[in-house]
Amino acid sequence: MTTETTPGTVVDHAQLRIGEKTFDLPLVRGSEGEVAIDIRNLRRDTGLITLDPGYANTGSCRSAITFIDGERGILRYRGYPIEELAKTSSFLEVAWLLINGEQPSQAERESFAEGVAHHTMIHEDFNRFFSALPRDAHPMPALAAAVGALATFYRAPESDEDVDAAVTRLIAKMPTLAAYSYKRSLGQPFMAPRNDLNYSENFLHMMYATPCEEYHVDPVVARVLDLLLILHADHEQNCSTSAVRLVGSSRAHLFASISAGISALWGQLHGGANQKVIEMLEQIASTEGSADLFLERAKDRDDTKRLMGFGHRVYKSYDPRASILKDACVEVIAKRGGSSRLLEIAMRLEEITLSDDYFVSRKLYPNVDFYSGIIYEAIGIPVNMFTVMFALGRLPGWIAQWTEMRRDPDFRIGRPRQIYVGPTERRLADSTG
Ligand code: CMC
Repeated sequence: MTTETTPGTVVDHAQLRIGEKTFDLPLVRGSEGEVAIDIRNLRRDTGLITLDPGYANTGSCRSAITFIDGERGILRYRGYPIEELAKTSSFLEVAWLLINGEQPSQAERESFAEGVAHHTMIHEDFNRFFSALPRDAHPMPALAAAVGALATFYRAPESDEDVDAAVTRLIAKMPTLAAYSYKRSLGQPFMAPRNDLNYSENFLHMMYATPCEEYHVDPVVARVLDLLLILHADHEQNCSTSAVRLVGSSRAHLFASISAGISALWGQLHGGANQKVIEMLEQIASTEGSADLFLERAKDRDDTKRLMGFGHRVYKSYDPRASILKDACVEVIAKRGGSSRLLEIAMRLEEITLSDDYFVSRKLYPNVDFYSGIIYEAIGIPVNMFTVMFALGRLPGWIAQWTEMRRDPDFRIGRPRQIYVGPTERRLADSTG
């Protein structure tokens, strides 16, 4: 197999034998050396399809955005290691990088931040939208509905300029909508955004200020929030990103596609795990000895309970985001106080699992959700907002993947096939008899 080719092009062929016949299938190599069998003509040539539940072994696209090596615990956005970005970049710089492919110049950085600050306000009619929701509505479905409803205010972007404008609008308005969802759940008045604050500071202001009291942003909190958003910003073809691509592949509105991604992220096996982790740790904290019971239940194949915040479809070693967050957790709790009890339980659970054959043999390690909830708690984010925070962070990744898909020369509507296992043709019972 040749190695020096343009990434993503055919480097060789594999042979598939079915009965007496042999078929050539192209092999495609990515820039980090991973190789895929291109099966797009398989059905045309052989009449067969592939079967891959959960798409665990299926590459749905060529992408130049994010690289993950799950065996070696590597995560890079546009080639830059996550550890480096986490140390030196702001969330808006990372958003620009993901969406545009390169680090912003000074002028691009300033004009992007200015554009975002300029579009943070929400149409007054949105007050009516939020007041139609139940008082105790969970902020995550409220956010999904609100982002979908934004499509009623702005027509679907077609040209590149329209897409750029829609992207800036959405990045600007998501924190406002997220904070609105939260204020609604408290029954408090919405706080208008403040353009003199940076992205994370403004979000904290909209969450915690009230008409009676200003909120003074703690720089430690604002920086750790920016870090959390950066760590969540993209993760290649996960469940919610694939939902965004699939919905967008029908040429649906950007905002409708992102709304679908938010709904997919809400599930407890995906972004909803961060809320479940903190609930699990609190339950363990309140009942002596329940850590062992939790672990036993998580290991029992007849029990649906899992150790939340553990395991990953792609990482088969330590999730690099979890190690950055673990260090950040220790630092934030030392600086701000917060529940060191939950952190201690989490670290203890991790220690036990690292020497437990069940977890070791299945390569189950803490994922990004294991420590994020503890930090959110330490900086005062309410539990029902944890997954909303994940959505805020993931937004630039969803956008980058959506725009990349629309410009892909291989673009086709997403439409998997199936192996039908239902009844063969039969007749309805005669209802007259
Ligand atoms: N606790 C106990 N056992 C587990 C866990 C867990 N958290 N995760 C996987 N396993 C077991 C699973 O039962 C299976 O065992 P066996 O081989 O005996 O049947 C084996 O490990 C492989 O698991 P799988 O379900 O085939 O793995 P998957 O790739 O389909 O699922 C996952 C990945 C993340 C959904 C799963 O690990 C899980 O449910 N984890 C808990 C929820 C969680 O933390 N989700 C956040 C993921 S990271 C951030 C994000 O994507 O949003």
